[in-house]
Amino acid sequence: MKITVVGAGAVGATCADNIARKELAEELILLDIKEGFAEGKAIDMMQTSALLGFNTKIKGVTNDYSKTAGSAVAVITSGLPRKPGMTREELIGINAGIVKSVAENILKFSPDAILIIVSNPMDTMTYLSLKSLGLPKNRIIGMGGTLDSARFKYYLSVAMNCNSNDLQGFVIGGHGDTTMIPLTRYATYQSLNVTDLLSEEVLAKVAADTMIGGATLTGLLGTSAWYAPGAAVCALVESIVRDEKKLFTCSVSLEGEYHQEDICLGVPVIVGRTGWEKVIDYNLTEEEQQTFNKSADAVRSMNNVLKE
Ligand code: NAI
Repeated sequence: MKITVVGAGAVGATCADNIARKELAEELILLDIKEGFAEGKAIDMMQTSALLGFNTKIKGVTNDYSKTAGSAVAVITSGLPRKPGMTREELIGINAGIVKSVAENILKFSPDAILIIVSNPMDTMTYLSLKSLGLPKNRIIGMGGTLDSARFKYYLSVAMNCNSNDLQGFVIGGHGDTTMIPLTRYATYQSLNVTDLLSEEVLAKVAADTMIGGATLTGLLGTSAWYAPGAAVCALVESIVRDEKKLFTCSVSLEGEYHQEDICLGVPVIVGRTGWEKVIDYNLTEEEQQTFNKSADAVRSMNNVLKE
């Protein structure tokens, strides 16, 4: 199998590294617009293969999409990341142009590829891809909720002093500091509901820390994070190529699910060989549905910027 990652920056290179280590592809193309950059990252990664023991061939290319031909999955991370104090929304104009042209170039050479959209503002970039590319909706997956859910489990694991692998938990809604919704009511530790294990105050703090999880790291790092985003993309790629049918929050086209339509927003979906396969309905309470609707309104107003 062949996989392409566009953008050899922090997130793209990290996800490529993870994909290679897990041998999810025989061939991995890393493409960047910056002359020589993807080539350099690819060679550096290939020089770890004798040490780490993987057998994925990583090839770096500068903007030559013919080398990506026949990719089963393409990950789009090209675009500007956030700087401290910047919102994901502020990236909209620049990244929209980049994501659209990159996706069109990918599909020219890999018409059957499943696209994973990472560039921010991710829900809007996913909606733009849905509207402009004419692909079946299941082949367009926005990655944001997978990362936010991992952050949610991290903060829960800190609060409970437990292994995050024993936790289940989902963050739905938009991939923004104020639009994401950590679903504490559904989070479990070894099948026990965390609402029975932690106080309301602690759970509220876990939810608040999750929501500003990205901004906290941007403040510390001076740019947005890459290890967890790269790992989150890799988890999706793994579920696709191994047809694992795992449940992840992804931004997908809603056509009435969760009472929303004409929008891409984070909901729990099964991810397998054909892309996202099924939206799982969590039966939100009225209050949760109202929060979800507010999140949709915020994302929709950002989508409207594209139409202006
Ligand atoms: P970065 O600046 O390290 O890397 C971006 C790369 O894209 C650069 O190497 C740049 O040369 C390349 N690029 C720009 N225009 C291009 C084009 N037209 N064709 C090919 N390559 C192009 O940024 P980083 O940290 O890797 O972030 C990438 C994007 O992912 C940003 O928009 C960021 O906000 C977003 N992001 C999204 C997350 C999510 O959960 N959805 C999490 C973290 C970052």
